[in-house]
Amino acid sequence: MTAPDALIDRPDSRTPGTGGVTLEGVTKRYGDQVAVDDLSLQIQPGEFLSLLGPSGCGKTTTLRMIAGFEHPDAGDILISGRSALGLPPFKRDVNTVFQAYALFPHMTVAENVAYGLQQRRTPKAEIRERVSAALDLVQMRRFADRRPTQLSGGQQQRIALARALVNRPAVLLLDEPLGALDRQLREEMQLELKLLQSRLGITFVFVTHDQGEALSMSDRIAIMRDGHIEQLADADTVYARPASAYVAAFVGQQNFFTGAVVDDGHGVDSAHVRVRSGRGALAGQQSGQAAVRPEFVRIAAATDAAGTANTVRGALLSVAHLGETMQYLVRLGDDQSILVRRPTPTAPALGVGDAVVCTWDAADVLLFPADAAATDGGYLAPPA
Ligand SMILES: Nc1ncnc2c1ncn2[C@@H]1O[C@H](COP(=O)(O)OP(=O)(O)O)[C@@H](O)[C@H]1O
Ligand SMILES: [Mg+2]
Repeated sequence: MTAPDALIDRPDSRTPGTGGVTLEGVTKRYGDQVAVDDLSLQIQPGEFLSLLGPSGCGKTTTLRMIAGFEHPDAGDILISGRSALGLPPFKRDVNTVFQAYALFPHMTVAENVAYGLQQRRTPKAEIRERVSAALDLVQMRRFADRRPTQLSGGQQQRIALARALVNRPAVLLLDEPLGALDRQLREEMQLELKLLQSRLGITFVFVTHDQGEALSMSDRIAIMRDGHIEQLADADTVYARPASAYVAAFVGQQNFFTGAVVDDGHGVDSAHVRVRSGRGALAGQQSGQAAVRPEFVRIAAATDAAGTANTVRGALLSVAHLGETMQYLVRLGDDQSILVRRPTPTAPALGVGDAVVCTWDAADVLLFPADAAATDGGYLAPPA
């Protein structure tokens, strides 16, 4: 794909600050429910920022307030440095791409893309040029005369994207735009979207509940919980240094061990294993949680070696081939299992029912204050 000049509008050719979005203490209530809770966030011009979190945490509401479809009960929203409060959606320098593409079924692809420009009485020749540039950008020019019903889901999503890009917005808001696509197509579109975004220099605010999607595309990720931001950082940071057990549980996978805090705050004494951390401590806490990612756990056939910290024996419940990795589920007791992933080429050959021993390095253990609500759905052993 080449980006036609008709659509390129690089940040360096713009007024400084164009495309930045600032939320200042934004709150939105529905009845007595707080959907967005005193949220502050600064999005840089040209940044790819994702709002990530489980269903109901306030992502769509936040996006709709930036777009102007909802109005905050408190706080301010600045787009390109100016308050957008009171501006209707079409007067904001933003465009939205929804999961449901909402294409007009009775119009051709080209007419769908041209619609917004026609509403704004753009000259016909310019409309033609910008529509074909937008269709080139999403590799859909040869479908210009089809109707949306004659297109696949992925093709319809490309048209929805072209329809937004044709307006040359400074900010593009995307609400789970790839959610309806099958996995392979979704991964292709992730790559394309990211390339497009960096080429066009448009600010992207991207809503998703898919942590892999957020990790692979974003400059920064805002992880949301109950209407507020729990952590705002780049992918490396939220993965390696999650700010809370909630973030640790939501980004990637974790084995959590809950129990009394021991070893001067450097360990957690769980039912099956004492977990020691070489990274930080839980000073002054009674109980805590230790978290170890499946990819940091080593597994081998059990020996007679006595259990020490960060070493635990169990029985192999299942082995699954995931392609690049092998995944093992090890039962530690009635109430807990541990998930292990090893690169396939070096994964040990073990069978279901084998006695195994799992170990990990203290350097890979994170400690958090106990937060059961954040880490529900850990790897509990199924009933025996
Ligand atoms: N129009 C509405 N009326 C009442 N409650 C709403 C409305 N829109 C959203 N909510 C509530 O606000 C919370 C946040 O919703 P939403 O922003 O859609 O979350 P997300 O996009 O993260 O799934 C949810 O509890 C939801 O039920
Ligand atoms: Mg939503």
